[in-house]
Amino acid sequence: MTNPFESKIIPFYGGIKPELFEIERRCMDRKGNVIQYLEEHLPDGLILDVGAGNGFTAEKLIREGRFVIPMEPDEKMIDRSKKLVWSNGVAQSIPFHDNTFDAIYSTWAFFFDGIKDIDEGLSEVERVVKDGSRIIIVDNYGDDEFCSYSPNDITSSVAPWVQRGFEYEVIDTEFIFDDVLEAKKLLTFYFGEQGSRVNKTTLEYKVVAYTKVLNKSDR
Ligand SMILES: C[S@@+](CC[C@H](N)C(=O)[O-])C[C@H]1O[C@@H](n2cnc3c(N)ncnc32)[C@H](O)[C@@H]1O
Repeated sequence: MTNPFESKIIPFYGGIKPELFEIERRCMDRKGNVIQYLEEHLPDGLILDVGAGNGFTAEKLIREGRFVIPMEPDEKMIDRSKKLVWSNGVAQSIPFHDNTFDAIYSTWAFFFDGIKDIDEGLSEVERVVKDGSRIIIVDNYGDDEFCSYSPNDITSSVAPWVQRGFEYEVIDTEFIFDDVLEAKKLLTFYFGEQGSRVNKTTLEYKVVAYTKVLNKSDR
């Protein structure tokens, strides 16, 4: 069956190269600083994870009083062995009623090429959260050792988020690999020749969390 949202999906390698995605998920933010940030800033209630990947983050944030629904459009990414209630959908067309969620977050999944898709996604996010709910978008901040291996600019652009009423906080974390071979494997895949030069197991990595509490009467 073809995916009705195909044209809205940002292509991601994780479903076709699960062995590399396993390294990425295990080694990026190994100390859990991003999870800690989300843990502290998300309320109890019903939460949506937009572009949830294999459910790594959602699984960690569920606790008594807080239920997280991971929404992921790529069937190959969904890990049905995890005890999660999955939703299949894209940020630009979220398959839930208005005012359903107490908060929404998205980790490394809201980096659409065009501002049109960001705005479509944001207006959907704002539709499905309740008034007064927190929205958190996590991305690469840049200006760090990890991004210095990339031949292209892979940093998030702060200005469009600030223009849309978000505040931001930089979370200092690290990629910590088991060994240099593993680091080379992932960074060569990401960045080609430049990535293959990595010769260490720990890389400084800065992450940005954009956040705002939605006031629906301001929209
Ligand atoms: C870099 S991965 C991040 C996965 C997960 N959030 C994590 O932190 O491990 C980006 C994810 O966004 C999903 N994605 C792609 N297009 C999307 C869209 N239009 N709306 C929501 N998610 C999307 C991809 O399938 C992929 O699983």
